[in-house]
Amino acid sequence: MAKKSREQWGSKIGFILAAAGSTVGLGNIWRFSYVAGNEGGAAFVLIYLGVIFFFGYPLLCTEIAIGRTTQKNPVGAFKALAPNSPWWLVGALSVLTSFFILSYYSVIAGWSLSYTFKALLGAFTPGADFAGLFVGHISQIWEPIIWHAVFMLITLTIIGAGVVNGIQRVSKVLMPLLFILLILLVVRGLTLDGAGAGIDFYLSPDFSKVDGGTFSAALGQAFYTLSLGMAIMITYGSYLNKEDNIGDSSRMVIGLDTMVAILAGLAIFPAVFAFGFEPNSGPGLAFITLPAVFASMPLGAFFGFLFFLLLSIAALTSTISLLEPSVSYLIDEKGWERKTASLVVGTAIFLVGIPASLGYSVLSDVSFLGLDLLDSYDFITNAVFLPIGGLLTSIFAGYVWGSKNAAQELNTPPGKFAFGKWYEMLLKYIIPAAILVVLFVGLYAQIVG
Ligand code: PHE
Repeated sequence: MAKKSREQWGSKIGFILAAAGSTVGLGNIWRFSYVAGNEGGAAFVLIYLGVIFFFGYPLLCTEIAIGRTTQKNPVGAFKALAPNSPWWLVGALSVLTSFFILSYYSVIAGWSLSYTFKALLGAFTPGADFAGLFVGHISQIWEPIIWHAVFMLITLTIIGAGVVNGIQRVSKVLMPLLFILLILLVVRGLTLDGAGAGIDFYLSPDFSKVDGGTFSAALGQAFYTLSLGMAIMITYGSYLNKEDNIGDSSRMVIGLDTMVAILAGLAIFPAVFAFGFEPNSGPGLAFITLPAVFASMPLGAFFGFLFFLLLSIAALTSTISLLEPSVSYLIDEKGWERKTASLVVGTAIFLVGIPASLGYSVLSDVSFLGLDLLDSYDFITNAVFLPIGGLLTSIFAGYVWGSKNAAQELNTPPGKFAFGKWYEMLLKYIIPAAILVVLFVGLYAQIVG
């Protein structure tokens, strides 16, 4: 039987939007701006930009290069570059990481989808008990599981449709929509009376808050937001042809991701401060503080709806990128049909995610290192697996595949890849050392203190 040829992105912009869709997610919206506000505002943003440029950018290029040079899923890619060695396990680890991240990310995405409808149906009334509304929602047994199922169903349907007809087509519609929604929300936030206090919190530079922890926070955020260390960029790179320079495309992806992160803060904090709320991070900000903020503003139901739609879209372009590595593995290595693989893996991920959802109801007694179930999934994948995956990938590219080969792939065709000799230094020494720091700081913070 003739082997069906492997799919490729239809265009350079198709790849850029799909990869940007993966990088733009919950992390840009509820994490970046809060960390920035607490770690020195504009001072943090400057450090973050440096970290993105010196660490995020070369590693992003490297992962894409591993995929493009082999035209294979992550497991196959490592096998092809280092035959008869155990390095394929790094590919397997990163595919598993994306599998587990998706299982709980989809639970949160489900909350977001349900809040989109809650906003529309008028739940954001002034003076309502929003902490109670949120806790009431997540501590039910069935409702959050059903929204998690809906989100996984949408995700696996898109992945089942293919790289071009699924991922690329959806990204080309959703990413521009995401920007429009974000800009509407920024304009709304900045034109509120009293917006200035929020901008002060978010951006006024305060170098006294900058210390070692700031760098590690910037690094952690950079790896997470660029979806590194979890097989995604290797997989997306494997659908690239050799016509465009990887560095050039990566810079576009990073530019879009950074823009969304910075704009999200401008949409959120002016509004939070204008109505006298305290900023916080994570689900508390998105699901408790912001609904209260929207309830206080004219047309709040409408802006609340726009915000949760934005959050759901940002999550969806990330969830599809989290499902694709496992599916692409089964297609390439095991000869599965794409539709079957999407359905089977999507269902498995849905099932694995259920305990994370039940951790707020029937499994609320279960905890690990003092974390509830969903936070434990998050900690193990993001603080442990993800840095280990990134570390091993850079060591692999630097020493096993070889930084010269990697650099050559990056310069085909020649582009403005700006590192020259620095690339080897970064890949072999500086990036692995930086990742080790993030790994230990993260473990230390959780376990010791
Ligand atoms: N980069 C996404 C964000 O910022 C999160 C994500 C992590 C997406 C891992 C895919 C994989 O939210």
